[in-house]
Amino acid sequence: MTAFDEAALDQAFAQVEGQAREEAAAIASDEAVEAYRLRWLGRKQGRLNDVSGRWLKAAPPEAKKALGLRFNALKTAVEGLLDTAKGAGPSDAALAAEAIDISLPGTRRLTGAEHPITKTLNEIVSVFAGLGYSVGVGPEVETDYYNFECMNFPPGHPARDTQDTLVIAGQDRKPQRDRLLLRTHTSPVQMRTMEMQPPPVRIVIPGKVHRNDAADATHSPIFHQVEGLCVDTNITFSDLKGTLDYAMKALFGSSVKTRFFPSFFPFTEPSADVQISCIFCGGKGCRKCKQSGWIELLGCGMVDPAVFAFAAEKQPAYDSKKISGFAFGLGVERIAMMKYGISEIGQFFAGDMRFLGQFA
Ligand code: PHE
Repeated sequence: MTAFDEAALDQAFAQVEGQAREEAAAIASDEAVEAYRLRWLGRKQGRLNDVSGRWLKAAPPEAKKALGLRFNALKTAVEGLLDTAKGAGPSDAALAAEAIDISLPGTRRLTGAEHPITKTLNEIVSVFAGLGYSVGVGPEVETDYYNFECMNFPPGHPARDTQDTLVIAGQDRKPQRDRLLLRTHTSPVQMRTMEMQPPPVRIVIPGKVHRNDAADATHSPIFHQVEGLCVDTNITFSDLKGTLDYAMKALFGSSVKTRFFPSFFPFTEPSADVQISCIFCGGKGCRKCKQSGWIELLGCGMVDPAVFAFAAEKQPAYDSKKISGFAFGLGVERIAMMKYGISEIGQFFAGDMRFLGQFA
């Protein structure tokens, strides 16, 4: 540089800054950013160092101030260019490679839906909720006492054999009443409920139960029941009949009829099996009802005084001289199979989305 007047300085600095801009615009990668930094701002060989060394030193004292001002402006400009280049982000090519077409349909998430068993269970529960019943639950791993003994199946009683019990291993050292098993019915929750509250009781108990049954079209080692228990003063068999008749009509339609047959359960006396008129043929007789016009659906009866005696050990108000009650237990799978026309119980547990998707 030979001339140090304002115009000459402006021109010289504009030229250098123009170069800096041009090079900054060509930066396309992180490595290029670093190379640019070294080339322009590097302490030893950087262009700015070069400019200050050669121009500033050569300038006459009266021009130093004007030159210094321009030098600082240039440095700020180059630093700004570097900052911009750093944040410039990926190249056009990189952007193009990961571009998405937002007009394409998205990945659909399947909407969750209630399992048909859950659906049926909730439906049954809500019928009884409408009658003022509350909902109770109990453990699926139960003691011998709750599953059998307090339900009036004494040790060794032959009625225990009808329940095909799956027992938990390694329980032999415990007294029999404490041994664990997979509950074979929801009836133990009758006792758990009564032990927790004095009468009156109106409760339904939905839940999973287990039996060592060989699986076939209508049997599964896992299935579900809804238990019902109503205890109060002056509860009679007519209350039981009226309640179940109403519930069956609510579940299957108002034209359904019910009838009661003598049966046996250790924890109810008298006991009954309930049949409903065939929902497929209206009672005329068809393949589904084996030409009888009736389908057997649930077990029930008046709570046996022996059961109240067990409850009274914790809640003395269960005095069978003062109160009475009824209980019932229905199989959820059976009802779901009838409602939805399903012929294989195993479908409920196979987890086949083609089957389950129909209930969404
Ligand atoms: N617990 C009985 C069973 O599983 C059903 C039942 C419940 C019968 C309540 C009468 C009263 O077979």
